[in-house]
Amino acid sequence: MILITGGNGQLGTELRHLLDERGVEYFAADVRELDITDKVAVDSFFDKNKPELVYHCAAYTAVDKAEDEGKTLNELINVDGTRYVSEAAARVGATLVYISTDYVFGDRLPVGGEWAVGAPKAPESEYGRTKHLGEEAVKASGVKHYVIRTAWVFGAYGPNFVFAMKKLAETHPELTVVADQHGRPTWTRTLAEFMVYLVDTNQAQGLYHLTNDAAEGEDVTWFDFAKEILKDTETIVKPVDSSQFPAKAKRPFNSTMSLEKAKATGFEIISWQKALKEMEALGDRRENPDKIKGESK
Ligand SMILES: NC(=O)c1ccc[n+]([C@@H]2O[C@H](COP(=O)([O-])OP(=O)(O)OC[C@H]3O[C@@H](n4cnc5c(N)ncnc54)[C@H](OP(=O)(O)O)[C@@H]3O)[C@@H](O)[C@H]2O)c1
Repeated sequence: MILITGGNGQLGTELRHLLDERGVEYFAADVRELDITDKVAVDSFFDKNKPELVYHCAAYTAVDKAEDEGKTLNELINVDGTRYVSEAAARVGATLVYISTDYVFGDRLPVGGEWAVGAPKAPESEYGRTKHLGEEAVKASGVKHYVIRTAWVFGAYGPNFVFAMKKLAETHPELTVVADQHGRPTWTRTLAEFMVYLVDTNQAQGLYHLTNDAAEGEDVTWFDFAKEILKDTETIVKPVDSSQFPAKAKRPFNSTMSLEKAKATGFEIISWQKALKEMEALGDRRENPDKIKGESK
């Protein structure tokens, strides 16, 4: 059995669609089917079903709430939950794919630089700290694993930056977007494909980084991302610095991660602009099933 935890999240949903398209069977669980913070439930699920592969997409992802009112839950889900899942997976001999984040690194990377896979970790937010401890729990469990760090995730199945920009543009002729935080966007589809690719091609276990690609020397900020999202609209997008948007959790000024190791596996990483375009095309097809019929004639 293939198990997807957090199966209703934005990545979990994308992964379900991908596996459906490929005719791969799986069991997708969200908190109602399998609460990963319930050790007894996790152990009994694994002992009964003995999954051979676990795509661990369940997480606490409310980055700002994790600083205060969500602190305990963040720790429970991202650290304890990940430990229970990893240890149970190790016990039944499963392979585990865990998704992590550039927030494990903190904020020490000069603009223009890239985080190497082996760079030392120094998280500066509660979310980053618990995702780092999640990574360590995966390693300590002895499970065969792939840990994939990603950033700036967008897709068709959840609240994310693309949705937010489009929604705001419906009511605001002008938007201001931060232009001093740098990184690369990641389409959930590209990430889901990479998760499956690592397992299917039996790549070396361990740490990987995966975002969509950018052109050589291209610098991308949230402002650039917003401009691309809204390029076919009348909306005016203006750059501001992040002091205009104070947030509880500290955001890194540079989230760019090296894609060298992911590329060395032979996986083709499309550009973030192409990913955005493809997501929009796919989104249209899903909303208008007739379009698919029209195109296949
Ligand atoms: N989104 C980003 O920008 C980003 C960036 C870097 C890394 N990541 C990582 O990518 C992975 C997927 O993120 P995502 O964007 O898909 O997050 P998401 O949309 O928030 O999905 C997380 C899922 O986990 C479920 N969940 C929460 N608590 C659970 C529990 N106790 N037991 C079982 N399931 C539980 C959530 O259910 P409820 O909604 O019902 O709580 C939700 O369906 C996570 O590991 C995240 O840390 C995300």
